[in-house]
This record gives sequence, C-alpha cells and structure tokens, in this order.
Amino acid sequence: MRVLLIGFGPVGRAFAGLIEERRAMLRARYGLDLELAAIASSSAAWLRDPRAGSPGADALRGAASPAELVGRIEPWNGADALDSVDADVLVEATSGGGDSGEPAAGHVRAALSRRMHVVAASKGAFVWHYRELRDLARRSNVELRIGAATGAALPTIDTARYGLAGAEIERIEGILNGTSNYILTRMREGGTYADALRDAQGRGVAEADPRTDVEGTDTATKLVLLANALFDAGLTLADVPTTGITQLAPDDLARAVERGERIRLLGTLEGGTGAWRARVEPVPLGADHPLARVDGLEKGITYQTDTMARVTVIGGRSDPNGAAGALLRDIVNLASG
Ligand SMILES: NC(=O)c1ccc[n+]([C@@H]2O[C@H](COP(=O)([O-])OP(=O)(O)OC[C@H]3O[C@@H](n4cnc5c(N)ncnc54)[C@H](OP(=O)(O)O)[C@@H]3O)[C@@H](O)[C@H]2O)c1
Repeated sequence: MRVLLIGFGPVGRAFAGLIEERRAMLRARYGLDLELAAIASSSAAWLRDPRAGSPGADALRGAASPAELVGRIEPWNGADALDSVDADVLVEATSGGGDSGEPAAGHVRAALSRRMHVVAASKGAFVWHYRELRDLARRSNVELRIGAATGAALPTIDTARYGLAGAEIERIEGILNGTSNYILTRMREGGTYADALRDAQGRGVAEADPRTDVEGTDTATKLVLLANALFDAGLTLADVPTTGITQLAPDDLARAVERGERIRLLGTLEGGTGAWRARVEPVPLGADHPLARVDGLEKGITYQTDTMARVTVIGGRSDPNGAAGALLRDIVNLASG
C-alpha cells in the first residue's frame, strides 16, 4: 500500500516517522506492506527514490520541510502531487480549512476520484462537504476514514461503528477538546481563566491564538463530524449553539466542587434519527458521571445506547503523536477490511 502524505506539520512529520519505523512490525503483524511514496507541503514535495535509500524515521520527524529529505524533490503542492504520484491511500494532514474546507477538500475529492482511499486528520473538508465526499468514496468503491479528525487517539467513530454495532445510540456526550479540559482542571486547582490559559500556553498545550479550543468551536466541529459520519445528520456548525469556557470564574468551579460536581466543556448530541441536535457548553457533572473524572489533557466520550446501556471511552494522547497513531490505526483497519 503506497501512501501519499499531504501536509508536513507536526502531525504529518509524526506520521511519516511512525510508519517508516513500523514497516517491519506492520508486515509481520498485519501482512501490510506500507510504503511512504511521497510527501507534499504547500511548496515542496519529496518522492521516494529507491537509489537514495530511506530518509529514516528520525530525519522524517526532524525535517522542517520535505525538501530537506534524501530522495527526489519537486516544487509541488498537494494538488500537484495528487496529479503526479501513483498511490493507494492519501493521508490528509494539512492545516485547518476552517472557512471553506480548502485545500483539504480539493485533495480529498481528487484522491477519491482517482480511486485512492483517504485517511484524514484535517477537519474542515468534512465539516463543509462530508456527504458529498462520502458519496464520492462510495461511488469510487474506496474508504474514507476521518477518525483522526474526530478525537484522534480517542476512538470515537470506531467505538460507535464496531463496538456498538447493532445498538441504537440515543445520546452522545463528549469532552472532545484536551486544551479546554486542561484549563478547567487548572482553574479547579485554583487560579483564574487567564492564569490557567497562560500556564497552558507556556506548556505548549494551548496555541498562541486559543480561540478555537476555548470558545468551543473545536468541540462543535467534532460533534458535527460525528453526527454526520455516524448518523448522516446533515448538521453544520451553524446548527450547534456553542458556549466556551472563557467566561467561567474560579468561583463557578469552586461552587461546583462544593456540590461534588466537576464543570466540563461538554459536547452533547441527542434526539435520534431525523432529529439530531447538538450543543456545546460548560456543564456541571455529578460524581456518578463517567466523564466527571476526565482530568487534564484527557478526552472522553459516553454513548447512551438502548441494548448496551452506557458505554464510555476515556483517554488517548492529545498531541501530534496521538494523531499520527490514529492515522495509522485507520489505515490498518481499512487495509484489514
Ligand atoms: N495537533 C494535533 O494533535 C491534531 C490532532 C488531530 C487532528 N489535527 C489536525 O491535523 C492537521 C495537521 O496538523 P498540524 O498541526 O500538523 O498542522 P500545521 O502545522 O498547520 O501543518 C499543516 C501542513 O499543511 C501544509 N499545507 C498547507 N496547504 C497545503 C497545500 N495546498 N498542499 C500541501 N500542503 C499544504 C503546510 O505546508 P507549509 O508548511 O509549506 O505551509 C504544513 O506542512 C490539522 O488540520 C489539525 O487540525 C491535529
């Protein structure tokens, strides 16, 4: 299985290093021969040149650009690479695509049209065009997997599709953003929102511009992706009333603790077939709620089902290595059928 990787930021680099170092293990354990064929950023592409040997996992993790790797180098972006590289699967790891889903949507459309499987970490394309891209994948008889975009190392979609197969999912609740959960945890331990944010930024947990995380947009985005991927709900971000954590005061968290509760930024999806509704807001959870104990950078998701009752998954690494692991998980699972 030849892989074309588009996007060589922290996630792309971690993924490239991971599959390069796991080649023997993947062959032995899954009979999967996974070869990184090419990597494209916005202005440079690397193509494997057997005569140059492998760049090696450390070089792939450490390079600032594909142009620094040993192999053939071309001045290509993602679209150019899709036109020129023969591959079986596209790994889409470009930046956000928040306003329109581009350039990821164009990459995914081109790959699916060429009958390549797609495994994505970027979210924008699927917020805007999920139904169209899913239908295109079906017509092309290939797989589209977005688990790395929908909680990454926390297996959200896979838990629902495989672990809860045959059950009716009645409600989903999720702590889907590690950064805001970290800030809430720090505030509970004492300190204002501003103190906790500064601490998170100092540790590289929050970005310089943290709005997507702390205003709830990232959580709302993941809820929309889940609703559309699992239930074909046809939701958009405009359908999700969203309140973040920026207005919370230390007193709010302290009072919740006195009541034996924990305040969490919760994404909720409920309503059932044809009537799915989503919302994001800080919610006090009682000690008996499984997500009340999700602290720090951890995430968690609870499914309320009819036949299997309440099922919760907690944890998973919230960083580029976790996202790379999720991309690999999706490839292994699609290759295994
Ligand atoms: N960090 C996480 O833990 C995590 C978890 C799950 C999902 N994600 C998602 O994974 C994606 C990648 O994350 P990241 O932190 O690695 O992103 P990033 O630092 O923004 O890197 C994005 C990469 O995309 C490239 N790119 C932009 N436009 C392109 C184009 N037209 N053709 C080819 N390449 C293009 C950029 O190239 P240049 O450098 O040349 O501009 C860069 O290499 C994001 O969508 C993110 O939301 C991240």
